[in-house]
Amino acid sequence: MELGHLPIMPKEIVEYVCSTLSSAPGLIVDGTAGGGGHTSLLSQAAPNSRILAIERDPSAYGKLKEKFAGTNVTVFNSSYTKIPGIIDENNFPQAGGAIFDLGLSSIQLDTPERGFSHRHKGPLDMRFDQNSGKPASALLREMTEKQIADAIYRYGEEGRSRAIARAIKQSRRLLYTDDLAEAVRSVVKGNPVKPLARVFQAVRILVNGELDHLETLLSEMHKWTGPECNIAILTFHSLEDRMIKLHFRDSEYFRQFDPPWLLPGSAEKRANRRSRSARLRLGVRL
Ligand SMILES: C[S@@+](CC[C@H](N)C(=O)[O-])C[C@H]1O[C@@H](n2cnc3c(N)ncnc32)[C@H](O)[C@@H]1O
Repeated sequence: MELGHLPIMPKEIVEYVCSTLSSAPGLIVDGTAGGGGHTSLLSQAAPNSRILAIERDPSAYGKLKEKFAGTNVTVFNSSYTKIPGIIDENNFPQAGGAIFDLGLSSIQLDTPERGFSHRHKGPLDMRFDQNSGKPASALLREMTEKQIADAIYRYGEEGRSRAIARAIKQSRRLLYTDDLAEAVRSVVKGNPVKPLARVFQAVRILVNGELDHLETLLSEMHKWTGPECNIAILTFHSLEDRMIKLHFRDSEYFRQFDPPWLLPGSAEKRANRRSRSARLRLGVRL
């Protein structure tokens, strides 16, 4: 079976991101191309524009390269923090629209060898880019109990963070997703599914430095976006959502769109579980 990823809020995103490009074609940035769902829709909706698709995961990048060969999409294997350099070096114009769909794809989540899910046994890795940084197993071994508890509380919003961190440090083995899941289960009375999801999310955010990447993206976004550029950011976590909200509200270079955010409709929430925790933040370059 081929793994797939359903793009979230496709209609809303295409309409918003392309709205300033309907009269004059330009550059659209998809900073988290993943399975290429949003990229594909943008490419079709704006055939005369150029789409710059960025993806941090080398294996996703390989598939995107094949999928978009010979189209108006140029794919780079990089972090969205590198967009200013990519645009400069390739003589691309400033962007007229941009989309960021934060977090991980269903393809990554459903691939056991990547170690993102407590539902599949696999190596405890969780890196978007397996060629750099340390896998979750190594990082957790190096961290103190307090550091782990703080990360689980902050990035997972999990109240039992201290007890879970203690159980993680006391685990006899911490090599597989099962080992981390077992540490969580040993602490949680009742249904462990939500605590498991929160702890796995926290460790993934930590392993990939996700909030640091987001901070860099936001602080440099004014350098590569043109006037009236519409920026859509799909968030799945209150910390990242708040960072974006404050940036669009308070930065001298941006304003919040009206409305400042949208949520998926009930039909989409029924059809795509992952959309249930999504919020689409909308900002405009001044
Ligand atoms: C939710 S998925 C995107 C799905 C995509 N919108 C689609 O429709 O198929 C997020 C993707 O962003 C990638 N990613 C995470 N952090 C990144 C970063 N800093 N720079 C570029 N890509 C990143 C992940 O590897 C993942 O493939």
